[in-house]
Amino acid sequence: MITIQHNVSLKKFNTFGIDAKAKYFISVSNKQELIEALQLSQFSDYFILGGGSNMLITKDIDIPVLHIDFKGKVIGPPNSQGEVIVNIQAGENWHEFVLWCIENGYGGVENLSLIPGNVGTSPIQNIGAYGVELKDVFVGCSAIDIETQEEKMFFLEDCNFGYRNSIFKNEAKGKYIIISVAFKLTSKSHKLNTSYGAIQQELESNNITDPTIKDVSDAVIAIRQRKLPDPKEIGNSGSFFKNPVIPKAAFEILQSKHSTVPHYVMSDTEIKVPAGWLIEQCGFKGKRFGDAGVHKNQALVLVNYDNATGAEILALSKKIQETVLEKFNIAIEAEVNVIG
Ligand code: EPU
Repeated sequence: MITIQHNVSLKKFNTFGIDAKAKYFISVSNKQELIEALQLSQFSDYFILGGGSNMLITKDIDIPVLHIDFKGKVIGPPNSQGEVIVNIQAGENWHEFVLWCIENGYGGVENLSLIPGNVGTSPIQNIGAYGVELKDVFVGCSAIDIETQEEKMFFLEDCNFGYRNSIFKNEAKGKYIIISVAFKLTSKSHKLNTSYGAIQQELESNNITDPTIKDVSDAVIAIRQRKLPDPKEIGNSGSFFKNPVIPKAAFEILQSKHSTVPHYVMSDTEIKVPAGWLIEQCGFKGKRFGDAGVHKNQALVLVNYDNATGAEILALSKKIQETVLEKFNIAIEAEVNVIG
């Protein structure tokens, strides 16, 4: 049985800590409740809320907010190679899931430690960090079609995963609610990915030569804690912008002026440049404008020190985009969903 709450503050439901109001708020913890909510005859459109970690809410929300709060984990038996399929309900917190994997000896998600948000929203932007992306462990997800309320499975090949991208940001956008995600993990012979420079350095500085999945997770946690603000302390949504991918010719011009520009070669013709570096070069790192600001250790992250409104953070993001465009002739795109 569902209940509709009225005028609920969303401050604790979005990691930016924006105090917008939901005119109607409905929390659903299983498929039956979700379908019941979707069939309410007085509403035709819904705002789907998961962990609230990748959104900037710039105004109150008048359509019903559906809070997806499904909990639970199902573990399949290991196959002969020691791989297990785990099926995780959408409302489980992502980092708690990672810690549970480490505790139970399941490898594959340790590089994705401390990413804010819930399991159910992880496929939408194909979360990624330190050389691993969700797609590397993803088997499939189950979703409810908002219009028909039918359940549909999306397998790896259906999802068109790309850098911070998937079918759920494109053709399937706004059409489905993910209710559970299945992952393929290792229970032995873990394939560790420590190729990312910062992880190697962290392990070396702790004299770890033969790391376990816990060592890798601990290294990632330590790196992230140094660089990224904890949303429980300072509101933020992780990287606010995507790293732009630019043509090689444009990159060569940039590099001729700034020889130290960090970059990743994507292909023979394209180079990815860290937006954090571009923003820092424009002088924004650590700057504060009222309660909106740019994090002092990672310029890619915008922060809400306390009571910034979504509109104030959005205005800052636009100012940053304009300045980067003016100085470098590179357009940087928001990674977070701007609501409103
Ligand atoms: N850099 C700067 N100044 C800054 C920030 C970064 O010069 O203020 C430089 C760094 O020195 C480094 C390069 O930019 O040479 C890359 O920095 P970092 O390794 O911190 O990674 P990133 O490209 O800034 C991406 C993801 C992060 C993820 C890290 C590690 C995106 C948009 N962001 O950041 O993801 O944790 O790599 O894999 O791709 C997130 O999505 O919320 C997130 C935090």
